[in-house]
Amino acid sequence: MAKQRLQKIIAAAGLASRRKAESWIESGRVTVNGRVATIGESADVETDTITVDGRPVGRPEQKVYILLNKPSGYVTSLSDPEGRAVVTELLSDVTERVVPVGRLDLTTEGLLLMTNDGELAQQLAHPSFHVDKTYLVRVRGEVTPTTIKSLEQGVMLEDGPTAPAVVEAGRSSGSHSWLKITIHEGRNRQVRRMCEALGYPVSRLRRIGYAFLTDDKLDVGRYRHLTLREVERLKKLNEKHKPGRGRGKAKC
Ligand code: URA
Repeated sequence: MAKQRLQKIIAAAGLASRRKAESWIESGRVTVNGRVATIGESADVETDTITVDGRPVGRPEQKVYILLNKPSGYVTSLSDPEGRAVVTELLSDVTERVVPVGRLDLTTEGLLLMTNDGELAQQLAHPSFHVDKTYLVRVRGEVTPTTIKSLEQGVMLEDGPTAPAVVEAGRSSGSHSWLKITIHEGRNRQVRRMCEALGYPVSRLRRIGYAFLTDDKLDVGRYRHLTLREVERLKKLNEKHKPGRGRGKAKC
């Protein structure tokens, strides 16, 4: 393998973002062949011994990108102190140490991206990186056009107003209504809190779109590897990505 910048090697190993790795180099935490590394230095991960805080930085694993259709009742985490089921338990044939990109609540179902590409995971989950996330939402009560407008324009939550969203009204039975909501922020329990703030408790929540990724054929609890083209597209996403673009229609 050719020489690469140290920050790139550290990021590829999934230890930190490139920027963070640079700060580790600056503060003398990184060594190459027993010598403290300097900023701008390159090394060969095959032949040089690189350490961070004395721990060797291994060869990067094969990168894997997985789309899981998360069932309700699974925690979006690698382990759970309360002993509840975690999403990684569903990845029966995956030996790489993948992490979830963002999170879905315990009872939320739907598309969850998981990868061992630490750099991409950090980039996608960063608040400045506007990835569209589309949800099918069942709320209690009959939703009015005024409520739809409020959801679209932004709802005041305790951590500030939400950014404009794309909202479509779906079926309504009187006691329940379905909505399709696309947001690009990723605040904690955001969709539930937006609906609750307007007087509509959420009784079911399912993510049906993550950026351009959708998958009607993926059964609940199943996963698939992304295609090379999908991985390339994900890497090309940038901050100019705006909500409401590039998604197919879904029935709600
Ligand atoms: N919004 C929520 O309220 N919960 C989720 O799991 C995802 C988005």
